[in-house]
Amino acid sequence: MPNHSKEKRLAATLPPAKAKQRLDNHEASRAVLEWYDHNRRNLPWRMPPGKRADPYHVWLSEIMLQQTTVEAVKPYFEKFIQRWPRLADFAAATQDDVLRLWAGLGYYSRARNMHRAAQVIVTEHGGAFPETETALRALPGVGDYTAAAIAAIAFGQRALVCDANIERIMARYGAVADRLPAAKPAIRAVLDRMTPSDRAGDFAQALMDIGNRICTPPRRKGTHRSQPQCLICPLASSCLGRHQDPSSWPRKAPKKDRATRQGHVMVVISDDQQVLLMRRPSQRLLGGMMLFPTSNWPDGSRAKTTYPIEADSLLGQLEAHLAEHPRRQVLNTPVEHIFSHFALSLTVTRVTDVRRQDLKGVDAGGIWHPMVSLDQEALPSVMRKVFAMACG
Ligand code: ADE
Repeated sequence: MPNHSKEKRLAATLPPAKAKQRLDNHEASRAVLEWYDHNRRNLPWRMPPGKRADPYHVWLSEIMLQQTTVEAVKPYFEKFIQRWPRLADFAAATQDDVLRLWAGLGYYSRARNMHRAAQVIVTEHGGAFPETETALRALPGVGDYTAAAIAAIAFGQRALVCDANIERIMARYGAVADRLPAAKPAIRAVLDRMTPSDRAGDFAQALMDIGNRICTPPRRKGTHRSQPQCLICPLASSCLGRHQDPSSWPRKAPKKDRATRQGHVMVVISDDQQVLLMRRPSQRLLGGMMLFPTSNWPDGSRAKTTYPIEADSLLGQLEAHLAEHPRRQVLNTPVEHIFSHFALSLTVTRVTDVRRQDLKGVDAGGIWHPMVSLDQEALPSVMRKVFAMACG
Protein backbone atom coordinates (compact mmCIF):
# COMPACT_ATOMS: atom_id res chain seq x y z
CA MET A 1 0.00 0.00 0.00
CA PRO A 2 1.41 3.49 -0.80
CA ASN A 3 2.64 5.61 2.11
CA HIS A 4 0.03 8.35 2.60
CA SER A 5 1.51 9.97 5.67
CA LYS A 6 -0.30 12.92 7.26
CA GLU A 7 2.69 15.14 6.40
CA LYS A 8 2.44 14.31 2.71
CA ARG A 9 -1.24 15.02 2.61
CA LEU A 10 -0.73 18.30 4.40
CA ALA A 11 2.08 19.36 2.10
CA ALA A 12 -0.24 18.84 -0.81
CA THR A 13 -2.91 21.13 0.62
CA LEU A 14 -0.94 23.94 2.26
CA PRO A 15 -0.72 27.20 0.32
CA PRO A 16 2.87 28.14 -0.51
CA ALA A 17 2.89 31.33 1.64
CA LYS A 18 2.98 29.26 4.82
CA ALA A 19 6.41 27.99 3.94
CA LYS A 20 7.82 31.57 3.92
CA GLN A 21 9.65 32.97 6.91
CA ARG A 22 7.67 34.99 9.39
CA LEU A 23 8.34 38.72 9.18
CA ASP A 24 9.48 40.49 12.32
CA ASN A 25 7.51 43.60 13.32
CA HIS A 26 9.86 45.98 11.53
CA GLU A 27 9.71 43.93 8.34
CA ALA A 28 5.94 43.72 8.62
CA SER A 29 5.56 47.51 8.86
CA ARG A 30 7.96 47.94 5.91
CA ALA A 31 5.90 45.47 3.87
CA VAL A 32 2.75 47.46 4.66
CA LEU A 33 4.39 50.78 3.69
CA GLU A 34 5.80 49.35 0.49
CA TRP A 35 2.37 48.02 -0.40
CA TYR A 36 0.94 51.50 0.25
CA ASP A 37 3.52 53.16 -2.00
CA HIS A 38 2.25 51.11 -4.92
CA ASN A 39 -1.39 50.46 -4.13
CA ARG A 40 -2.77 53.34 -2.08
CA ARG A 41 -6.17 54.79 -2.88
CA ASN A 42 -5.96 58.24 -4.34
CA LEU A 43 -8.26 60.23 -2.04
CA PRO A 44 -8.78 63.99 -2.09
CA TRP A 45 -7.56 64.53 1.49
CA ARG A 46 -4.39 62.51 0.99
CA MET A 47 -0.88 63.63 0.13
CA PRO A 48 1.60 61.52 -1.84
CA PRO A 49 3.39 58.88 0.28
CA GLY A 50 5.86 60.36 2.76
CA LYS A 51 4.33 63.89 2.64
CA ARG A 52 2.33 65.35 5.51
CA ALA A 53 -1.24 66.34 4.80
CA ASP A 54 -2.89 69.62 5.86
CA PRO A 55 -4.31 69.08 9.40
CA TYR A 56 -7.49 70.93 8.42
CA HIS A 57 -8.05 68.47 5.56
CA VAL A 58 -7.23 65.47 7.73
CA TRP A 59 -9.55 66.57 10.50
CA LEU A 60 -12.40 67.42 8.11
CA SER A 61 -12.11 64.06 6.34
CA GLU A 62 -11.78 62.04 9.53
CA ILE A 63 -14.90 63.61 11.04
CA MET A 64 -16.83 63.10 7.82
CA LEU A 65 -15.64 59.48 7.60
CA GLN A 66 -17.09 58.63 11.00
CA GLN A 67 -20.15 56.46 10.20
CA THR A 68 -19.90 57.31 6.47
CA THR A 69 -18.21 55.58 3.54
CA VAL A 70 -15.27 56.98 1.60
CA GLU A 71 -17.31 57.21 -1.60
CA ALA A 72 -20.07 59.20 0.12
CA VAL A 73 -17.57 61.55 1.77
CA LYS A 74 -15.52 62.49 -1.31
CA PRO A 75 -17.95 65.04 -2.86
CA TYR A 76 -18.73 66.58 0.54
CA PHE A 77 -15.07 66.98 1.35
CA GLU A 78 -14.48 68.71 -1.96
CA LYS A 79 -17.48 71.04 -1.51
CA PHE A 80 -16.29 72.06 1.97
CA ILE A 81 -12.72 72.75 0.86
CA GLN A 82 -13.89 74.77 -2.09
CA ARG A 83 -16.27 76.82 0.02
CA TRP A 84 -13.92 77.25 3.03
CA PRO A 85 -10.36 76.74 1.81
CA ARG A 86 -8.78 77.43 5.21
CA LEU A 87 -9.75 76.62 8.77
CA ALA A 88 -10.27 80.33 9.58
CA ASP A 89 -12.82 80.61 6.74
CA PHE A 90 -14.69 77.64 8.12
CA ALA A 91 -14.65 79.01 11.68
CA ALA A 92 -16.16 82.28 10.39
CA ALA A 93 -19.02 80.56 8.54
CA THR A 94 -22.52 80.58 10.00
CA GLN A 95 -23.76 77.35 11.50
CA ASP A 96 -26.66 77.43 9.07
CA ASP A 97 -24.28 77.42 6.12
CA VAL A 98 -22.27 74.58 7.61
CA LEU A 99 -25.39 72.49 8.20
CA ARG A 100 -26.68 73.28 4.73
CA LEU A 101 -23.52 72.00 3.07
CA TRP A 102 -23.50 68.99 5.39
CA ALA A 103 -27.09 68.04 4.50
CA GLY A 104 -27.29 64.41 3.39
CA LEU A 105 -24.24 63.20 5.34
CA GLY A 106 -26.30 62.52 8.47
CA TYR A 107 -25.33 62.60 12.15
CA TYR A 108 -25.54 66.37 12.24
CA SER A 109 -23.92 66.68 15.66
CA ARG A 110 -20.66 66.00 13.81
CA ALA A 111 -21.09 69.21 11.83
CA ARG A 112 -22.04 71.27 14.88
CA ASN A 113 -19.07 69.93 16.89
CA MET A 114 -16.73 70.54 13.98
CA HIS A 115 -17.84 74.11 13.69
CA ARG A 116 -17.37 74.67 17.42
CA ALA A 117 -13.95 73.01 17.29
CA ALA A 118 -12.88 75.33 14.47
CA GLN A 119 -13.81 78.33 16.60
CA VAL A 120 -11.89 76.91 19.60
CA ILE A 121 -8.80 76.45 17.40
CA VAL A 122 -9.05 80.07 16.25
CA THR A 123 -9.72 81.60 19.65
CA GLU A 124 -7.62 79.34 21.91
CA HIS A 125 -4.83 78.06 19.65
CA GLY A 126 -4.24 81.12 17.46
CA GLY A 127 -5.70 79.35 14.41
CA ALA A 128 -3.10 76.54 14.45
CA PHE A 129 -4.17 72.96 15.03
CA PRO A 130 -2.91 71.48 18.31
CA GLU A 131 -0.42 68.70 17.54
CA THR A 132 -0.59 66.30 20.45
CA GLU A 133 -3.17 63.59 20.86
CA THR A 134 -4.13 64.95 24.29
CA ALA A 135 -4.73 68.49 23.02
CA LEU A 136 -6.57 67.20 19.96
CA ARG A 137 -8.83 65.06 22.13
CA ALA A 138 -9.93 68.19 24.00
CA LEU A 139 -11.59 69.54 20.83
CA PRO A 140 -15.35 69.05 20.44
CA GLY A 141 -16.13 65.91 18.45
CA VAL A 142 -12.57 64.52 18.54
CA GLY A 143 -12.26 61.13 20.26
CA ASP A 144 -9.31 58.77 20.74
CA TYR A 145 -9.35 57.42 17.20
CA THR A 146 -9.65 60.81 15.48
CA ALA A 147 -6.97 62.38 17.70
CA ALA A 148 -4.56 59.56 16.86
CA ALA A 149 -5.38 59.76 13.14
CA ILE A 150 -4.75 63.54 12.99
CA ALA A 151 -1.55 63.26 15.07
CA ALA A 152 -0.19 60.52 12.80
CA ILE A 153 -1.39 61.67 9.37
CA ALA A 154 -1.01 65.42 9.73
CA PHE A 155 1.87 65.67 12.23
CA GLY A 156 3.82 62.48 11.58
CA GLN A 157 3.60 61.37 15.19
CA ARG A 158 3.79 57.75 16.17
CA ALA A 159 0.19 57.32 17.31
CA LEU A 160 -1.84 54.09 17.43
CA VAL A 161 -4.65 54.61 14.95
CA CYS A 162 -7.14 51.85 15.62
CA ASP A 163 -10.55 51.90 13.98
CA ALA A 164 -12.73 48.83 13.38
CA ASN A 165 -10.91 48.00 10.13
CA ILE A 166 -7.47 48.13 11.70
CA GLU A 167 -8.76 46.25 14.72
CA ARG A 168 -9.93 43.47 12.41
CA ILE A 169 -6.55 43.23 10.62
CA MET A 170 -4.60 43.12 13.88
CA ALA A 171 -6.97 40.59 15.48
CA ARG A 172 -6.44 38.30 12.50
CA TYR A 173 -2.70 38.95 12.24
CA GLY A 174 -2.13 38.11 15.88
CA ALA A 175 -4.94 35.49 16.06
CA VAL A 176 -6.15 37.29 19.17
CA ALA A 177 -8.18 34.71 21.06
CA ASP A 178 -10.25 36.95 23.35
CA ARG A 179 -13.62 38.20 22.30
CA LEU A 180 -14.38 41.89 21.82
CA PRO A 181 -14.41 44.13 23.79
CA ALA A 182 -12.05 42.25 26.13
CA ALA A 183 -9.72 41.68 23.14
CA LYS A 184 -9.04 45.41 22.62
CA PRO A 185 -5.84 45.66 24.71
CA ALA A 186 -4.36 42.58 23.01
CA ILE A 187 -5.29 43.96 19.59
CA ARG A 188 -3.70 47.33 20.39
CA ALA A 189 -0.59 45.51 21.59
CA VAL A 190 -0.25 43.81 18.17
CA LEU A 191 -0.69 47.21 16.49
CA ASP A 192 1.78 48.85 18.88
CA ARG A 193 4.46 46.30 18.04
CA MET A 194 4.04 46.89 14.32
CA THR A 195 3.50 50.69 14.15
CA PRO A 196 6.68 52.35 12.83
CA SER A 197 8.09 55.53 14.35
CA ASP A 198 8.45 57.07 10.89
CA ARG A 199 5.54 57.33 8.45
CA ALA A 200 2.98 56.35 11.11
CA GLY A 201 0.31 58.27 9.14
CA ASP A 202 1.04 56.39 5.91
CA PHE A 203 1.11 53.17 7.90
CA ALA A 204 -2.36 53.86 9.35
CA GLN A 205 -3.77 54.76 5.95
CA ALA A 206 -2.15 51.69 4.41
CA LEU A 207 -3.96 49.52 6.95
CA MET A 208 -7.20 51.34 6.16
CA ASP A 209 -6.74 50.47 2.48
CA ILE A 210 -5.78 46.88 3.26
CA GLY A 211 -8.90 46.64 5.44
CA ASN A 212 -10.99 48.02 2.60
CA ARG A 213 -9.59 45.89 -0.21
CA ILE A 214 -7.95 42.79 1.20
CA CYS A 215 -8.61 42.05 4.85
CA THR A 216 -12.31 42.66 4.40
CA PRO A 217 -15.08 42.10 6.92
CA PRO A 218 -17.20 38.98 6.51
CA ARG A 219 -19.93 40.29 4.25
CA ARG A 220 -22.68 37.81 3.59
CA LYS A 221 -22.98 36.74 -0.03
CA GLY A 222 -26.13 34.70 -0.31
CA THR A 223 -25.73 32.08 2.32
CA HIS A 224 -22.01 32.19 3.03
CA ARG A 225 -19.45 34.75 4.11
CA SER A 226 -16.95 36.23 1.70
CA GLN A 227 -13.33 35.49 2.49
CA PRO A 228 -10.51 38.04 2.74
CA GLN A 229 -8.05 38.18 -0.16
CA CYS A 230 -5.07 36.74 1.71
CA LEU A 231 -3.20 35.80 -1.47
CA ILE A 232 -2.47 39.47 -2.21
CA CYS A 233 -1.95 40.67 1.36
CA PRO A 234 1.51 42.06 2.23
CA LEU A 235 1.15 40.55 5.72
CA ALA A 236 0.08 37.08 4.57
CA SER A 237 3.31 35.25 5.31
CA SER A 238 3.16 36.24 8.98
CA CYS A 239 -0.55 36.31 9.64
CA LEU A 240 -1.42 33.83 12.37
CA GLY A 241 -5.13 33.92 11.58
CA ARG A 242 -4.75 33.26 7.91
CA HIS A 243 -5.01 29.49 8.03
CA GLN A 244 -7.80 29.33 10.59
CA ASP A 245 -10.75 30.99 8.90
CA PRO A 246 -9.52 34.61 9.01
CA SER A 247 -13.04 35.92 8.60
CA SER A 248 -13.90 34.70 12.10
CA TRP A 249 -11.72 37.44 13.66
CA PRO A 250 -12.16 39.54 15.66
CA ARG A 251 -13.92 37.12 17.93
CA LYS A 252 -17.20 38.54 19.11
CA ALA A 253 -19.33 37.67 22.09
CA PRO A 254 -22.34 35.65 20.91
CA LYS A 255 -25.55 37.61 21.03
CA LYS A 256 -27.41 36.94 24.25
CA ASP A 257 -30.38 35.18 22.70
CA ARG A 258 -28.31 33.05 20.37
CA ALA A 259 -28.97 29.38 20.98
CA THR A 260 -26.05 26.96 21.01
CA ARG A 261 -26.59 23.84 18.96
CA GLN A 262 -24.49 20.73 19.29
CA GLY A 263 -23.87 18.55 16.28
CA HIS A 264 -21.44 16.08 14.76
CA VAL A 265 -19.36 16.12 11.60
CA MET A 266 -17.12 13.51 10.03
CA VAL A 267 -14.06 14.04 7.85
CA VAL A 268 -13.54 10.85 5.86
CA ILE A 269 -10.33 10.61 3.84
CA SER A 270 -9.75 7.72 1.47
CA ASP A 271 -6.49 5.89 0.93
CA ASP A 272 -6.24 7.64 -2.47
CA GLN A 273 -6.56 11.14 -0.95
CA GLN A 274 -10.19 11.87 -1.67
CA VAL A 275 -12.43 13.47 0.90
CA LEU A 276 -16.12 12.78 1.32
CA LEU A 277 -18.55 15.69 0.98
CA MET A 278 -22.29 16.10 0.77
CA ARG A 279 -24.47 18.86 -0.60
CA ARG A 280 -26.69 20.73 1.84
CA PRO A 281 -30.37 20.84 0.81
CA SER A 282 -31.04 24.08 -1.03
CA GLN A 283 -33.73 25.62 1.17
CA ARG A 284 -31.64 25.47 4.32
CA LEU A 285 -29.02 27.70 5.87
CA LEU A 286 -25.89 27.19 3.69
CA GLY A 287 -28.32 25.76 1.14
CA GLY A 288 -26.68 24.09 -1.85
CA MET A 289 -23.17 24.27 -0.38
CA MET A 290 -20.75 21.40 0.08
CA LEU A 291 -20.26 20.16 3.62
CA PHE A 292 -18.50 17.29 5.33
CA PRO A 293 -21.14 14.77 6.37
CA THR A 294 -22.84 16.30 9.38
CA SER A 295 -25.83 15.88 11.61
CA ASN A 296 -28.79 17.99 10.76
CA TRP A 297 -29.07 21.41 12.40
CA PRO A 298 -32.49 22.70 11.42
CA ASP A 299 -32.70 26.48 11.04
CA GLY A 300 -35.93 27.10 12.89
CA SER A 301 -35.37 26.21 16.52
CA ARG A 302 -34.08 28.86 18.91
CA ALA A 303 -33.80 26.46 21.82
CA LYS A 304 -30.47 25.08 23.00
CA THR A 305 -30.46 21.80 21.16
CA THR A 306 -28.40 18.66 20.84
CA TYR A 307 -28.87 17.12 17.44
CA PRO A 308 -28.74 13.32 17.24
CA ILE A 309 -27.13 11.45 14.37
CA GLU A 310 -30.02 10.19 12.26
CA ALA A 311 -29.46 6.54 11.22
CA ASP A 312 -30.56 7.04 7.60
CA SER A 313 -28.47 10.17 7.01
CA LEU A 314 -25.06 10.00 5.33
CA LEU A 315 -23.43 10.62 8.70
CA GLY A 316 -25.52 7.90 10.34
CA GLN A 317 -24.55 5.38 7.66
CA LEU A 318 -20.89 6.33 7.90
CA GLU A 319 -20.98 5.97 11.68
CA ALA A 320 -22.37 2.45 11.24
CA HIS A 321 -19.85 1.45 8.54
CA LEU A 322 -16.76 3.00 10.08
CA ALA A 323 -17.43 2.42 13.81
CA GLU A 324 -14.61 -0.12 14.08
CA HIS A 325 -12.22 1.44 11.56
CA PRO A 326 -8.65 1.43 12.96
CA ARG A 327 -8.01 5.03 11.80
CA ARG A 328 -11.17 6.51 13.33
CA GLN A 329 -10.61 9.23 15.90
CA VAL A 330 -12.99 11.60 17.68
CA LEU A 331 -11.13 14.89 18.20
CA ASN A 332 -11.05 16.38 21.69
CA THR A 333 -11.88 19.96 20.72
CA PRO A 334 -15.15 20.77 18.96
CA VAL A 335 -15.35 23.32 16.18
CA GLU A 336 -17.23 26.42 17.28
CA HIS A 337 -18.95 28.61 14.74
CA ILE A 338 -21.28 31.55 15.12
CA PHE A 339 -24.00 32.06 12.56
CA SER A 340 -26.11 35.19 12.68
CA HIS A 341 -28.73 33.71 14.97
CA PHE A 342 -27.13 30.72 16.64
CA ALA A 343 -23.85 29.24 17.72
CA LEU A 344 -22.91 25.77 16.52
CA SER A 345 -20.54 23.41 18.27
CA LEU A 346 -19.51 20.46 16.12
CA THR A 347 -17.77 17.36 17.44
CA VAL A 348 -15.35 16.24 14.74
CA THR A 349 -14.64 12.62 13.89
CA ARG A 350 -11.76 11.95 11.52
CA VAL A 351 -11.33 8.68 9.65
CA THR A 352 -8.36 8.27 7.32
CA ASP A 353 -7.11 5.54 4.97
CA VAL A 354 -10.65 4.49 4.10
CA ARG A 355 -11.02 2.20 1.07
CA ARG A 356 -13.67 3.81 -1.07
CA GLN A 357 -15.04 0.48 -2.24
CA ASP A 358 -15.79 -0.36 1.42
CA LEU A 359 -18.38 2.45 1.40
CA LYS A 360 -20.17 1.27 -1.73
CA GLY A 361 -23.21 0.33 0.39
CA VAL A 362 -23.51 3.88 1.70
CA ASP A 363 -26.07 5.56 -0.53
CA ALA A 364 -27.12 8.78 1.17
CA GLY A 365 -25.54 11.25 -1.21
CA GLY A 366 -21.82 11.27 -0.49
CA ILE A 367 -19.52 12.87 -3.10
CA TRP A 368 -15.79 12.12 -3.19
CA HIS A 369 -13.60 15.13 -3.90
CA PRO A 370 -9.80 15.20 -4.41
CA MET A 371 -8.18 16.57 -1.29
CA VAL A 372 -5.56 18.60 -3.19
CA SER A 373 -8.20 20.78 -4.81
CA LEU A 374 -10.44 21.19 -1.77
CA ASP A 375 -9.32 24.85 -1.61
CA GLN A 376 -11.17 25.48 -4.87
CA GLU A 377 -14.41 24.04 -3.55
CA ALA A 378 -16.62 26.78 -2.11
CA LEU A 379 -16.73 25.35 1.38
CA PRO A 380 -18.53 27.52 3.93
CA SER A 381 -16.40 28.93 6.75
CA VAL A 382 -17.66 26.45 9.30
CA MET A 383 -16.44 23.59 7.08
CA ARG A 384 -13.06 25.26 6.53
CA LYS A 385 -12.71 25.31 10.29
CA VAL A 386 -13.63 21.63 10.45
CA PHE A 387 -11.01 20.81 7.83
CA ALA A 388 -8.35 22.87 9.61
CA MET A 389 -9.18 21.12 12.87
CA ALA A 390 -9.09 17.65 11.31
CA CYS A 391 -6.05 18.06 9.05
CA GLY A 392 -4.26 21.26 10.10
N1 ADE B 1 -11.44 55.94 7.00
C1 ADE B 1 -11.19 56.76 8.01
N2 ADE B 1 -10.12 57.53 7.75
C2 ADE B 1 -9.70 57.18 6.51
C3 ADE B 1 -8.63 57.60 5.68
N3 ADE B 1 -7.79 58.57 6.08
N4 ADE B 1 -8.47 57.01 4.48
C4 ADE B 1 -9.35 56.05 4.11
N5 ADE B 1 -10.35 55.61 4.84
C5 ADE B 1 -10.54 56.16 6.04
